[in-house]
Amino acid sequence: MALLNILHYPDPRLRTVAKAVTDFDAELKQLVNDMFETMYEAPGIGLAATQVDEHIRLLVMDVSEHRNQPRYLINPKIISADGEEESDEGCLSVPGFYEKVRRAENIRVRAQDDSGETSEFEAQGTEAVCIQHEMDHLEGKLFVDYLSNLKRNRIRSKLVKMQKQLVG
Ligand code: NI
Repeated sequence: MALLNILHYPDPRLRTVAKAVTDFDAELKQLVNDMFETMYEAPGIGLAATQVDEHIRLLVMDVSEHRNQPRYLINPKIISADGEEESDEGCLSVPGFYEKVRRAENIRVRAQDDSGETSEFEAQGTEAVCIQHEMDHLEGKLFVDYLSNLKRNRIRSKLVKMQKQLVG
């Protein structure tokens, strides 16, 4: 297992559109494990491969209270969605900022496991929000894209300033 480096906004690599997973091999299983380790360590409730500079359609998550219900999705697709809810979102790539985002309340998702097996399930509440947030990453989209230009630019300049301080 290994901790992976998480890219921070406004790193342009976060804008990469991920490619479908086609090789269900040992390397994929290793990446799933490393992403779980990185997410739990951060700590966060979800992590998309895009955020660790791996541009394939893979995300990991655990929205449980006791952090003991890991779930990963490969090539996820939302096949139906209804309702609407607004909740505070944060992101490991936008550390320290939380803003309200509107998402579908209930979703039905189809995804594959690490051997390529397809299944479907329904998600509500935090889990539904998390899946939609992580799936946006796979499209090169961040939650700050839903905010006003003013808010987004403010977050951007604060993060750029913080990264400059860290470098030197
Ligand atoms: Ni995120």
